[in-house]
Amino acid sequence: MISDINGPGYWRSGPLTHLEFSTPSQRLGENPRTEPTVIGNDRWYAPSRRALLRLAAAGALAGALPARAQDHPDRAQKSPIGVIGAGNIGSTIGGLWVKAGHPVLFASRHPEDLAGLVREMGPLARAGTVAEALAFGEAVLLAVPYRAYPDLGRDYAAALSGKIVLDAGNATRARDGDLAAEAEAQGIGATSAKYLPGARIVRVFNAANYQVFQRNAHRSGGLMAVPLAGDDPKAVAVAEGLVRDAGFDPVVVGPLDAARRFAMGSPGFGLDVTAPEARRVFGLQP
Ligand SMILES: NC(=O)c1ccc[n+]([C@@H]2O[C@H](COP(=O)([O-])OP(=O)(O)OC[C@H]3O[C@@H](n4cnc5c(N)ncnc54)[C@H](OP(=O)(O)O)[C@@H]3O)[C@@H](O)[C@H]2O)c1
Repeated sequence: MISDINGPGYWRSGPLTHLEFSTPSQRLGENPRTEPTVIGNDRWYAPSRRALLRLAAAGALAGALPARAQDHPDRAQKSPIGVIGAGNIGSTIGGLWVKAGHPVLFASRHPEDLAGLVREMGPLARAGTVAEALAFGEAVLLAVPYRAYPDLGRDYAAALSGKIVLDAGNATRARDGDLAAEAEAQGIGATSAKYLPGARIVRVFNAANYQVFQRNAHRSGGLMAVPLAGDDPKAVAVAEGLVRDAGFDPVVVGPLDAARRFAMGSPGFGLDVTAPEARRVFGLQP
């Protein structure tokens, strides 16, 4: 079930697809309070009278103001993304996806605290729980302190299994203790895979500060390279597309184990270069 603190509207159980998400009524979701109508495998919830009134107001507003998806027909086709952890890196990268036209559900342990963030980002952004982000996103960005990985992996094992996870977390000794030592010894990719079993992990968006991402997104004069690594070709392709949508140039460094080459403290960490330069640094084909 997907909750939405942006406003009221209609509800459908289970994950939404980009097409299902493209009508204003579904963008303005609300917790269901009535019995659902079952159509096929889906349950649809009727809105309350108050919701209908607010929806009508939203419709009038949509007529008066250019709606983003209407302004940009291609945007209605963008895939929904879950962002788990809506702090510095999660809100920055997730915000870039919202600007690119992706519906994004931001999650944390305290989604009620994210109301202001998603309101500022507009109707494509919403807030919810970790379970909701996992159900919502065709891919999820994991942007929480690394020490949370073991619990997340255990508590959401079923939902994470088979999910494309863009893994931005870094393990530091000061913050993450033994986990950082484990990541240094085993490799950050292997360590993430150990704690998120079954997830289709792509290490990405970990190798620069969020302010660098914010400042350089869509920059002119040569996009900033973003290194990534993963074992699942489809997941890597999805991640490459999402790197581009955020305003950067993806550079696939190799399989998941190659993530150690741009892990914190490695020579590939903190590069602020274009893709050809990054390929040179990593010794990849131009
Ligand atoms: N900051 C950067 O520039 C940067 C750059 C690249 C990578 N990273 C990596 O990205 C991760 C996040 O860093 P950050 O600086 O964005 O941290 P942050 O600003 O402290 O944000 C962390 C977010 O994660 C949420 N969170 C914490 N524990 C959680 C849990 N168990 N379940 C769900 N949500 C949880 C927090 O919200 P609640 O506490 O309300 O749950 C908060 O929204 C770290 O691993 C970091 O190494 C950071």
